[in-house]
Amino acid sequence: MTAKLTWYGHAALGLETDGHKILVDPFFEGNPAASASPDSVEADFILISHGHGDHVGDAVAIAKRTDATVISVNEIAVWAGNQGLKSHGQHLGGGYKHPFGYLKLTLALHGSALPDGSNGGNPCGFLLRTNDGEKIYLAQDTGLFGDMKLIGEEGLDLAVVPIGDNFTMGPDDALRAVKMLQPKTVIPIHYNTWGLIAQDPDAWAERVRNETSTKVVVLKPGESYSL
Ligand code: NI
Ligand code: MN
Repeated sequence: MTAKLTWYGHAALGLETDGHKILVDPFFEGNPAASASPDSVEADFILISHGHGDHVGDAVAIAKRTDATVISVNEIAVWAGNQGLKSHGQHLGGGYKHPFGYLKLTLALHGSALPDGSNGGNPCGFLLRTNDGEKIYLAQDTGLFGDMKLIGEEGLDLAVVPIGDNFTMGPDDALRAVKMLQPKTVIPIHYNTWGLIAQDPDAWAERVRNETSTKVVVLKPGESYSL
């Protein structure tokens, strides 16, 4: 079995591994780059990296329709539970063996107020070891931080990093992130959703190819990459 990652646009991702369907930051309604509908997308689990509207997105509606379990930091997991959803709370640095693999929450430098003003706790990224042993790091929204080196020491098959700038790392810092993470493959996200985060992913890919040995895969919204 290999893991398959789909980019739905912005920071919305789908991950299929070992027969499990995982949605990450499922922002479809109101997302100008969305390549899927919240009414049809499938999910067994929904990972939410932080409370911002472009990441919580349609999580509540999708979880109600699919009966998926929401996984996030404890504050967001409790919030999801209060919406009537199944949820599992973790915290930064903590890992848990879910049916789809061992998932650890990682540091993210960002904010996390929920759309209704609730405290979302700390924002996070995700480090997954699939049941087949593949290591996948989803940085989601974050600025550059030096402890990415520690994440890289885990030996990454795939890293997904933001390059949009303004709200997250821009192309320069995302290149520095790749140098610390040293993944076999990297996929850029969180750009070109709006003019404010317009970037040229192919120009960034060229820089990564010139300065690292990491393979860059630039997806269009709706496209997938299989490990
Ligand atoms: Ni955000
Ligand atoms: Mn965001």
